[in-house]
Amino acid sequence: MPVSSFDLKRILRPNILRLEPYRCARDDYSEGILLDANENSYGPAYQVEISQDSKGHEKLQIRSGANDLSLHRYPDPLGREVKARILKLRPSIPSTDNIFLGVGSDEVIDMLVRITCIPGKDAVLVTPPTYGMYKVVANVNDVNVVKVPLVVDEGAFQLDVDAVIRTAVADPTIKIIWLCSPGNPTGTYLREEDVRRVLDSSFQGLVVLDEAYVDFVRPERGESYARLVAEYPNLFVMQTMSKSFGLAGIRLGVGIGSCELVSYLNNAKAPYNVSTLSLSVAKSALSDDGLVKMRSVMQGIQKQRDEFLIPELLRLPHVGAILGGNDANFVLCRICDSNGRASNEIAKHVYSEMAENRGLVVRYRGSDYGCEGCLRITVGTAEENAIVIETLRSLLSAIS
Ligand SMILES: Cc1ncc(COP(=O)(O)O)c(C=O)c1O
Repeated sequence: MPVSSFDLKRILRPNILRLEPYRCARDDYSEGILLDANENSYGPAYQVEISQDSKGHEKLQIRSGANDLSLHRYPDPLGREVKARILKLRPSIPSTDNIFLGVGSDEVIDMLVRITCIPGKDAVLVTPPTYGMYKVVANVNDVNVVKVPLVVDEGAFQLDVDAVIRTAVADPTIKIIWLCSPGNPTGTYLREEDVRRVLDSSFQGLVVLDEAYVDFVRPERGESYARLVAEYPNLFVMQTMSKSFGLAGIRLGVGIGSCELVSYLNNAKAPYNVSTLSLSVAKSALSDDGLVKMRSVMQGIQKQRDEFLIPELLRLPHVGAILGGNDANFVLCRICDSNGRASNEIAKHVYSEMAENRGLVVRYRGSDYGCEGCLRITVGTAEENAIVIETLRSLLSAIS
C-alpha cells in the first residue's frame, strides 16, 4: 500500500477515537509539594531502594533510612527516562513519542486489540505456529482469529506472503496482522523482503511485528525492524525486557510505532500502568553498563546454543532435526521413532518423564502446526544445558 494512504483513524474503534483520556495528577506537575494525587506524604510503610552489588546485580533493599524510589508517589505515567534510554539502545527510533510502555508485551498485545477491534465483529490474522497470546487475547475480547500458516516445509517457518496479503486484503474485518520475528516456537527471523511486501500491500490495517527475541538474532542474519517504523505508519514493533535483559519479573513491554498510534495507546491505558520499581530496574538495565552486560550475556547464550546445545542434541538417538532458524534463546527439537518419523508419542513421554521424575521442564510443542514431535528447549546455563543433554540421552537411549 502506498504508505501515504494508510489511515490510522480508519482502523481505530470509534469509541477510542472519541475517548477523552483520564488526566492523572502526574500529567501536569511532578515537582514541588505534591498534594494533588492523594498520595501519602509520610512515606511508604516500607522504604525500598535499588542498588547494584560488585557484580552489577540489582539488589532490592528494604531500609529504614532514605527512600530513593519515592514509592509513596505515583510513577511517571509515560516512563520518560526509560524511553530516553531505549532510544540509546535503538537509535533508529525517531523519538520517545514513538515508544509505548506496557506491563509486559502481553499488555501491549491486549491494548492493540482493544483499541482497534470491535468485539463480535472484527478479526486478527495470525501465522501458526506462533505465540499463543495473540489468540487468547482475541478470544478474551471476542475478536475472530484468521489463520494463515507459515510455510513449514523442512522447518522453513517463513511467511506465506501471498496468502497473508490475499487473506488480509479480502477481509476488511481484519484489523491486525500478527507477525513474530524471531518466531516462537520457531526461532526464525522473518525475511525483510517478506515483511516489506506485507507492509507495502493494500491491507488497510496494522502490521504488528513481535520482536521479543530480537537480541538473540545472529548479526549476519539481520537486526530489529524497529528501523522501519519511521518509514511505515502501518507498522508497530513490540520488544520486551523479559528475554535478553533477563527481567521477566518486572513486566515491561516496549511498543514502537507512529506517534499518532502511541498517543492513542497512551490515552487508553491505565494511567500508571508501569510501576516505579519496574521503571527503576529497567532504567538501570538500559544504562551503559547494563547494555554491556546484556550484550555479553547474549553472546554467551548464542555460544551455548550454537556450539553446545544444538550439536549435542543432534548426536542423540531419536533426535531427527533441529527445526527453525535458531535465532532465539531456545531450540525446537524434533523427536522421531525408530523409522525416523516425527513422534508426538515419544516426545510427550520424554517431556512428562523429565518434568515428573527428573526435575527438568521443557515445553512440548508437538500439537503446534508444523511442529510434530517437537520439544522446545530454552538455552539455559552451561550446567543446565549439560543436564538436559544427559537426561535426554538416558531417556532416548532406553527407547527402541
Ligand atoms: C513472542 C513472544 N511475545 C511476547 C511474549 C511475552 O512477553 P512479556 O513477558 O513482555 O509479556 C513472549 C513470552 O514468551 C513471547 O514468546
